[in-house]
Amino acid sequence: MAGTTIEAPSGNTRLREREERHSFGFAKKRDIALVRGQGARVWDADGRAYVDCTAGHGVAAVGHAHPRIAAAVAQQAATLITCQDAMPNDVRARFVERLVEFLPPGLERVFLCNSGTEAVEAAIKLARLSTGRTGVVAATGAFHGRTLGALSATWRPEFRAGVEPLVPEFRHVPFGDLAPLEEALGDGPAALILEVVQGEGGVHALSGDYLVAARELCDRHEVLLVLDEVQTGFGRTGHRFACEAHGVTPDLICLGKAIAGGLPMGAVAAGSRVAPPRAGSHGSTFGGNPLACAAGLATLDVFEDERLVERAAELGAWWMQRLRAIEHRAIAEVRGAGLMVAVEFRMRVAPLIDALADRGVLALSAGPRVLRFLPPLVVERGELEQVAQALESVLAALDAGELR
Ligand SMILES: Cc1ncc(COP(=O)(O)O)c(C=O)c1O
Repeated sequence: MAGTTIEAPSGNTRLREREERHSFGFAKKRDIALVRGQGARVWDADGRAYVDCTAGHGVAAVGHAHPRIAAAVAQQAATLITCQDAMPNDVRARFVERLVEFLPPGLERVFLCNSGTEAVEAAIKLARLSTGRTGVVAATGAFHGRTLGALSATWRPEFRAGVEPLVPEFRHVPFGDLAPLEEALGDGPAALILEVVQGEGGVHALSGDYLVAARELCDRHEVLLVLDEVQTGFGRTGHRFACEAHGVTPDLICLGKAIAGGLPMGAVAAGSRVAPPRAGSHGSTFGGNPLACAAGLATLDVFEDERLVERAAELGAWWMQRLRAIEHRAIAEVRGAGLMVAVEFRMRVAPLIDALADRGVLALSAGPRVLRFLPPLVVERGELEQVAQALESVLAALDAGELR
């Protein structure tokens, strides 16, 4: 039509379209293509900067493009990039020693894999192998991953629909309710698996009393306690691991996300009640590769030298207060621990997430009405203040009827 100008798609849109052409569409892609990061900031393909309160779903705890991670990875890539589990390796040996020192005392044997869901799979197999029992008890609202074993422990029906039947003998007990837990453990399952703070499920924390009681019940019924700290581990909640806030040590702990500074890695660590499995009963081609282990070692150095756990606790306390000071009829609750903070709304958060992005802030949801902030633990207070102001501006736009 005469006079109509057709706008060329932006760099963001072009990259989205190119990826969508060759994807299954499992993830609904946003029109923000990330091409660069530095600390707690990322830049899109059109050159716009954002405070990144997603951190790649909690992965980038040490921030983006940390020079120590980059140097460790580059050096290891030029030294030895792969080494199968059957061959010992210097970097892997050092990493598992350092990891065991960082973990709650008593968790001394480690299996390295490549993702959180693989860590959960390994924990389920170890629990069955160790106890000779088969049942697994999980909580309503839980998210433990998407491979078939981990998915069997995951709660939300939309993740499970269409791929059932899942692994038999998994059951879910109501989150945080002791009486049904006691009954379920009395049936003699192999394991109880819990998140100390449910992440994808909406940032809901189990109480210390519940966790202590769950530990006692597991002891009484000889059930292995598996804590999935894939999201809560590595300082996210202001403790090295969320279970340490309550003095509860699991028999198996599942790790992932932040463990290797952004490289894919998962791990499960076990205490003395877990019987050694028979050789060959589990394994992974890429698990424990020296590249990820070098990144993991550098990550632990950064945690120590930059006091990231303490930082998450201090900054997180301030951040929670800052968000709680925002009063608005649409806000139902602000909750969380450390730098794992959620704002529950009385409305769907999808338009709020888009409006925050328009104001230079990337945030996540945790269910339809929960806005979740998982910034890198290196985030500056000034950057979090910017996020709070962006949220205030979004709420003002909501009041003015201006949200898309
Ligand atoms: C608590 C928990 N467990 C397991 C997983 C699965 O981890 P991955 O996506 O690395 O397989 C996640 C991912 O969000 C998680 O939050």
